[in-house]
This record gives sequence, C-alpha cells and structure tokens, in this order.
Amino acid sequence: MNAQTDTPTGTVTDTVRTPAVVLKDAFTELSARERAASLLDEGTFRELLGPFERLESPHLAPQGIVPQSDDGAVVARGTLGGERAVVVALDGKFQGGGIGEVNGAKLAAALELAADDWESGKPIRPVVLLETGGIRLQEANLGLLAIADIHAAIVRLRQYTPVVGVVAGMVGCFGGMGIAAGLCTDLVVTRQGRLGLNGPEVIEQEAGVEEFDSRDRALVWATIGGAARAATGLAERLVDDDVSAVADAVHGVFAAGGTEPPRSARVEDALALLARIDPARRLTARDLAELSGLPSPTDLTALTDEPNGAAK
Ligand code: COA
Repeated sequence: MNAQTDTPTGTVTDTVRTPAVVLKDAFTELSARERAASLLDEGTFRELLGPFERLESPHLAPQGIVPQSDDGAVVARGTLGGERAVVVALDGKFQGGGIGEVNGAKLAAALELAADDWESGKPIRPVVLLETGGIRLQEANLGLLAIADIHAAIVRLRQYTPVVGVVAGMVGCFGGMGIAAGLCTDLVVTRQGRLGLNGPEVIEQEAGVEEFDSRDRALVWATIGGAARAATGLAERLVDDDVSAVADAVHGVFAAGGTEPPRSARVEDALALLARIDPARRLTARDLAELSGLPSPTDLTALTDEPNGAAK
C-alpha cells in the first residue's frame, strides 16, 4: 500500500508496510498468574498457596537475593471447558523460572494431588506452563530433588489424563524441566518458545563454539525454537503467541483425549530414530523431520527467522 504526503518540494510516496505478524493478545506478555487465569474458564481462577501465604525460598536471602512471596510458581484451580482443572505456571521473570525447593514442591504437590483426585474418582485436568531455565542454580540439589518429584508426578498422572505442557517463551524451558516437558502427553509451543536440555550458551561453553555458536540466532531458532521442535516431532501443537490460540490448543488436547501413547513412552520409535542418525554429521531440522518420518518443513526460513518479540 502506498501513502502520499504533500511537501513544499513535491509529493513523497512512502510504502506503508503491513506488519508480518499482528499480535492480537500476546500470551508471552502475560505474567505467570495472568497466563494461568487466561486458560481457565472466566471467573473460576482460584490460587492455592498464593503470595499472601509468603511461602518463600529460605535459600536466597543468605546468597544476597531478594526472595519472591510466591517463589515464582502459581498454582491455580478452576475449570477448563467446565471440567475441574489445575494450572501450574512458572514465573520466568523470577530467577529465570528456575526450580528451587519451594516452587518445585508447589508444582510437584499440585500434580500429586491431581493424581490422588483421579485415584479417588475425581477427574481433574492438569496444565503446566513451563517458563524456566531448569534447576535454580542457587538451590542446586534441592531443585534436582524437586524436579525428580515433578517428573514422577507427571508420569503417574498421565495414566489418567493428558498432561498438557505449554512452552510459550520468553525464557523457554531447559534442564530438568526440559525433561518434564518431554514427559507431558502433549506439548503446546509458540515460535517464541525455546526447548532443550542445555541452553545455547551452556552448550557453547561446555563443547566449544565449533559445536554450537550461541550468537548464531538463526541456528538457535532452527534447533531449539518452538517451530523447529514442532517440525521435528518434539512438540505436538505449534500455535501463535496469542491468548486464544494457546487456550484453544490446550482445550483441543483434552477434547481429543491427548496423544496416546505419550511420545516419551514410545521407546522403540526413539531407539529406531537414534539408529538412523549419523552422529558424525550435523543434522538440520529438515534432516531430523525426514528421519522421524514427519512431513519435512517446507519453509525453512520460518524456522530460522527470529520470532517476533523473541527473547534476546
Ligand atoms: N537458575 C537461576 N537463575 C536463572 C536460571 C537458573 N536455572 N536460568 C536463568 N536464570 C536467570 C539468569 O541468571 C538471568 O538473571 P538476571 O536477569 O538477574 O541476570 C535471567 O534468569 C534471564 O536469563 P538470561 O540468560 O539473561 O536470559 P536469556 O533469554 O538470554 O537465556 C536461558 C535464558 C534459559 C536460555 C539461559 O539463561 C540459559 O541457557 N540457562 C541455562 C539453561 C540450562 O542449560 N539449564 C540446565 C541446567 S541443568
């Protein structure tokens, strides 16, 4: 579209660009609490162990870090499409969403209680909003133990119901919580989400820049970005960074009954894929999609372009 402006020296014609992506109501701009509330049926959000309980980490102040009164985790109860639901959301803005003793226990307990509910005949739908750099570095072993409990709770719970994970961004989901994402029956990602075991800087630091250049943004997004993870079968649903799109995807998983068997239970498939991979050769997302028997991503630039509003 062209716009004309009359000036004293003549007429200037500007090209008015239509933005490539029009964000309707960005999910990633919401706080953890708002994200949880946005998924639940209107007016049903009720927080358990909220900030006024002041359940803080006792390990941060001695290390000179100001604790947060919900320890960076929101546990919300309500209904999803009329069904009882629990949504747990990590706050990526507090210590990178890292899992410590307290927020880890909140998450694990919420998922364990949901499994107890199913075992006593009370169905409940679990959703985990993952925004986390993994184990909180300041609480290493305690975070590790909490993450083991979270993993066990997800595996126990998915016998009864789909467990839906959401990796929307801006932090992404890494470390032991990357494994938690892999254990979910269904994973919903946006292009702004990043998913992996080690973050790009950590890989570069440990294995060298020739193995992985963390400053190569195109490489990062084509490897661990949400679009690449969906294209290579490590996430079930890729949606826009939009509140309604994320909510529809989460509702859609429960309506469809979830992926059965869950990806992490398909061990033979994973072993067969590993056997087809030549570790001496660097894989692209397209190679991995083809080796996985998935439709190869036709638009590779969609994988490598930096998503709108992505974390820097
Ligand atoms: N524990 C504590 N703090 C963490 C954290 C963790 N696990 N992960 C991230 N943070 C903090 C960072 O220190 C930073 O804090 P600051 O704002 O006070 O400086 C903040 O979260 C944001 O992290 P930053 O690295 O600046 O953001 P980014 O968007 O560039 O990268 C990650 C985010 C998660 C990709 C990056 O932090 C990373 O690679 N972390 C390590 C992930 C990993 O390998 N985990 C495995 C551990 S077993």
